[in-house]
Amino acid sequence: MSKIAELNEVAELKLNGQVYHLPVISGSEGEKAIDISKLRDQTGYITLDTGYKNTGATKSAITFLDGENGILHYRGYAIEDLAAKSTFIEVAYLLIYGELPNVSQLESFQRELTYHTLVHEDIKKFLDGYPSTAHPMGIVSSMFSSMPSFYPESLNPHRSSEKVNLTILRCIAKMPTLIAWAYKKSVGHPYVYPDNSRDYISNFLNMMFSTPAEEYTIDPIVVEALNVLLILHADHEQNCSTSTVRIVGSSQANLYSSIAAGISALWGPLHGGANQEVIEMLELIKLDGGDTEKWIAKAKDKNDPFRLMGFGHRVYKNFDPRARIIKAACDSVLNKLGIQDPVLEIAKRLEETALSDSYFVERKLYPNVDFYSGIIYRALGIPTEMFTVMFALGRLPGWISQWKEMREQGEPIGRPRQIYVGNNIRPYPELNKR
Ligand code: SDX
Repeated sequence: MSKIAELNEVAELKLNGQVYHLPVISGSEGEKAIDISKLRDQTGYITLDTGYKNTGATKSAITFLDGENGILHYRGYAIEDLAAKSTFIEVAYLLIYGELPNVSQLESFQRELTYHTLVHEDIKKFLDGYPSTAHPMGIVSSMFSSMPSFYPESLNPHRSSEKVNLTILRCIAKMPTLIAWAYKKSVGHPYVYPDNSRDYISNFLNMMFSTPAEEYTIDPIVVEALNVLLILHADHEQNCSTSTVRIVGSSQANLYSSIAAGISALWGPLHGGANQEVIEMLELIKLDGGDTEKWIAKAKDKNDPFRLMGFGHRVYKNFDPRARIIKAACDSVLNKLGIQDPVLEIAKRLEETALSDSYFVERKLYPNVDFYSGIIYRALGIPTEMFTVMFALGRLPGWISQWKEMREQGEPIGRPRQIYVGNNIRPYPELNKR
């Protein structure tokens, strides 16, 4: 798997009059890193990089990002090709097992997923305990944490690869059911059971929107749009939630618990929670009369906590290729569905204004994957509160593939160091002397 070139290139570090040589490694796309894994042993120093903006956590063969050139590849395949030609289930197979499936492998994968779509009936008792106002991210994260209660053999991640693979299949197969039942709980509708005669996305839509009174009509346009959205969200190398999954898994916690932690990390408004924030922001701007210049000024004002949600990215400093694909899909999906959504025009005006404003240009702030995705989700009938859990559905195969890679690479438990800046040692004062 590894295409790491151990070059004879070294980095020289001068400290206290001594020169240390640190190995430089180069990845298969030419990225370079200074390997500091022995730095503290050699020098007594650690590095400090709050937010890990310059620090690589691992070597991975799953996803390649080039932020300067807006490049995103899954296992070497361009996101543009996969979005145009693949399906979400095929991409999930690619990410997890490393290669695109052939016809029989894909059929077998789909068939195996079908066997595991049901969740234990006792899950309903969990759902009964939630108020209808419970956010689906909280419900789905806790459901995943509870899965080992029903599958105790999953607690040992060292089980045979067949056992680990069974847990992987269960995660992917049951996520749509858990999400749909969380939604049904929020609207007070009866749960709709998986229908194994349907494909993955049609089954999800049916569980979400059919009721005993009326069967939901599956629109191929909606299925296709969801396929593309889920593909675009499937993996994104060492982002916040994926790093969470990896570090939880590095303690040899089971896959379900690692995923549950990833769902919680994704929930944050600076990460996956941004897609819900974007729509709420656009609605606020619409209610305020649609004055995009005013809101751009607020986003630039350091004294104003308002940020342009869906804009900016830690890695992409030119454009987010996913945002480009989603923006194009917005127009075509809304046209095909005959939907006029005024917030789409507001979003486009915001983008246009921001991209000609030096504040955004200098800071290389462009629309990210979350900027337009909510507009499509809304057009597909997905309620705003469900946007982030849709991101989790898409990201699930990525989290699984990264957890699997980390376990297969036998990575050590993740345990960053720190620089202590607190009090020096001091005597314990008696209570009456404080
Ligand atoms: C995702 O990592 C991934 O791969 C994530 C993701 C994935 O697929 O997993 O791509 C998904 O999380 C996309 C990002 C969704 N979040 C948002 O849309 C929230 C809004 N964006 C930001 O909060 C911000 O841009 C981040 C969190 C995305 C990135 O933050 P960084 O890299 O830590 O950058 P920063 O906060 O240090 O910002 C640099 C400058 C600052 O200004 P100065 O202090 O230099 O003057 O840019 C400004 C920031 O104030 N800035 C913004 C801004 N984002 C950054 N100003 C206004 N509006 C914004 N959205």
